[in-house]
Amino acid sequence: MPQVNQVKCVFGEEAASHAADLARLRIAVFREYPYLYDGDMAYEKYYIQQYVQSPGSVIVLAMDGDTIVGASTALPLADETQAFKQPFIEQGIAPAKVFYFGESVLLPAYRGQGIGHRFFDQREAHARSLDQDFEYLAFAAVIRDADDPRRPEGYRPHDVFWNKRGFTPEPEMIMQLPWKEIGNEQETVQSLMFWLKSCT
Ligand SMILES: CC(C)(COP(=O)(O)OP(=O)(O)OC[C@H]1O[C@@H](n2cnc3c(N)ncnc32)[C@H](O)[C@@H]1OP(=O)(O)O)[C@@H](O)C(=O)NCCC(=O)NCCS
Repeated sequence: MPQVNQVKCVFGEEAASHAADLARLRIAVFREYPYLYDGDMAYEKYYIQQYVQSPGSVIVLAMDGDTIVGASTALPLADETQAFKQPFIEQGIAPAKVFYFGESVLLPAYRGQGIGHRFFDQREAHARSLDQDFEYLAFAAVIRDADDPRRPEGYRPHDVFWNKRGFTPEPEMIMQLPWKEIGNEQETVQSLMFWLKSCT
């Protein structure tokens, strides 16, 4: 079984030199259920810019030798777009008080070695190291029907893992984002639910 032999962090502007790797991984991994994302390089270029421009951002890289086989991102919510901030504002939570976790994407051959836990460990440690008095850690996960016909046989949702990491789903905090699903000609609006954990 191939192994990840290094996990390392890059910060802020350093994200620029990993843009192509992050795009490659997001497009490959998010093709899978539940995201079913039909990757779009134009969007990927725009997406990485938020991390490049945010001094508080971090990208955790999982390496097999010199090859990046997984990545996980995070940044202060204040540096995200309005769509991400709005559900917090509606709950009376100031975006400045939230550190937001973007995606975790790891090639299938490297799963089950504890890298997903290390992605959380590194991002949580970075949030606390920034000294910005964040009150919450948060991420958003796409909502799928339990009987979605596209759900593969034997698929295990990550809910148990996320609960174990101390996160709680917040059914009142929903964000809508458009993307083109595999097999569709046009983008459709997808609903994502936020999960929160105290950062104090
Ligand atoms: C999320 C992801 C990065 C986790 O990577 P990983 O290295 O396999 O995770 P770990 O080995 O640290 O395992 C984490 C937990 O996942 C759970 N898990 C293990 N195999 C699993 C599987 N096949 N399906 C679902 N959960 C599983 C376990 O509960 C494990 O926790 P435990 O070891 O404390 O019991 C990886 O599965 C992935 O890239 N998935 C596709 C993209 C995705 O859905 N990302 C999350 C939202 S952005």
